[in-house]
Amino acid sequence: MTTEDKDFSEVVASLSKKRGFYWGPSPEIYGGSSGFYDLGPLGKLLKNRLESAIRSSFVKAGFWEVECPTVSPEMVWKASGHLDGFIDPVTACTKCGQVYRADNLILEQSPDAKITDHTVEGLTKMLGDLGVVCPSCKGALGPVETYNLMLKTRLGLDQDAYLRPETATGTYLLFKRFVTFFRDKLPIQVFQIGKAYRNEISPRQGMLRLREFTQTEGQIFLLEQDEIDWPQFEDIEDEKLPLLPIQLQEKGDEKPLNVKMSEAVKKGYFQKPAYAWCVYLAFDIFRKMGFDVQKMRLRQHLMDERAHYAKDAWDVEVHTESFGWVECCGVHDRGNYDLGRHQEFSKENLHVKVDKKPIVPNVLEIAFGIERPLYCLIDNSFQEGEERDTNWLKFPPEVAPIQVAVFPLMGKPELMGPATEIFEGIVESGLITQFDQSGSIGRRYRRQDEVGTPFCVTIDYDTLENGTITIRDRDSMEQVRVHRDQLVGTLRNLVRGRIGFSSLI
Ligand code: GLY
Repeated sequence: MTTEDKDFSEVVASLSKKRGFYWGPSPEIYGGSSGFYDLGPLGKLLKNRLESAIRSSFVKAGFWEVECPTVSPEMVWKASGHLDGFIDPVTACTKCGQVYRADNLILEQSPDAKITDHTVEGLTKMLGDLGVVCPSCKGALGPVETYNLMLKTRLGLDQDAYLRPETATGTYLLFKRFVTFFRDKLPIQVFQIGKAYRNEISPRQGMLRLREFTQTEGQIFLLEQDEIDWPQFEDIEDEKLPLLPIQLQEKGDEKPLNVKMSEAVKKGYFQKPAYAWCVYLAFDIFRKMGFDVQKMRLRQHLMDERAHYAKDAWDVEVHTESFGWVECCGVHDRGNYDLGRHQEFSKENLHVKVDKKPIVPNVLEIAFGIERPLYCLIDNSFQEGEERDTNWLKFPPEVAPIQVAVFPLMGKPELMGPATEIFEGIVESGLITQFDQSGSIGRRYRRQDEVGTPFCVTIDYDTLENGTITIRDRDSMEQVRVHRDQLVGTLRNLVRGRIGFSSLI
């Protein structure tokens, strides 16, 4: 397969289908419903790897994991503001009636357009000025209106409820419980990983725009003073991040500035060190998921792009061959909007006492869906065949869906016994391992290259004689022999990036 003259997103989608990363729209045998996808065995393994990188980043940064229901009664969403404010701008074709998200349509048909006015009036004018038409019948489009993105359901016979559009809200409802659990001490840092739902209008970018997806959201409950006196900021103040603040965007710049965090706070790109630290943490989580920093940037939301609860918002964006810059993660300064609203609607006290005065804490949040980085990682890992006769995936070893493949040279009992033993030893070490005994060794290497397995080990007759095993490196295609006593330790070091393959040669 060559990628020349092909839409790269189609290359990624077809590779993902063929190799079992994801299938859909689901349910395929009934024609499929946009915005729903099934993860195949390799997609699920990749997602598990990403989740594990995310969990470990949050835990190392002092967050505790919780899990809340995915459905809540209407009152919760009235209080959170989602009922009134979680809306998208839509436009309907005056000829065929098909409904579209107006801002996406503008950018699809005029990729260089800059949307500076996100109001319904502004978008309606832009559709007209740019001559945007219905993509399916070329009919004229109607005025832009708003549309609520929550999926509605019913509890029992008569209670209206909604599937959660974010995990964050459930987390806020637990605030009183957290105060007790964390012994009245702020800041409180918690996160969730779980399903969320958004009734997107005609989602058309495959895995990038889903109606059901897995969200990861970290929340920090803190006082205003904590936002300024944030000791962890000292650890990162000399680090540089690629920042695209509003000031730069207003000048038409797309290229981020590499700015030291201390400088970014001094310049006012971030109002407070705690928020700057959250932006850094989000960037670092993406780095730990294996993204190349050269393909990432942090973009501040323009005022009219921000969600109804956000005082400030920065996105982690990843550059893809398929779609250019893709928004992958939002870092939000939610102020005390959420606890304030839930206090008002629930009539429960959601404050803490500071100098005997009741204060409703603020919230800082890191929020993202896992399927987007999953797609972007497949996109970023794609390699043309060149000297191999297959296209292959260069996943970072730590997050590769299969980290090690084990091959007995032949299916003979004298090789199968030790190969099985070695395979089980590697599995028990925690590495994701696959046993493959079918076809020639060359064909087996090729199959593993196609799914991005960084290391393959082969058990042959030398193993029986002198106890050595071949490790083959996906990227260089070089091989070394190591003694079976050192095998698991060596593989773990290679996968964790503690040693490079060339150091073994
Ligand atoms: N909780 C923020 C978001 O869903 O983007």
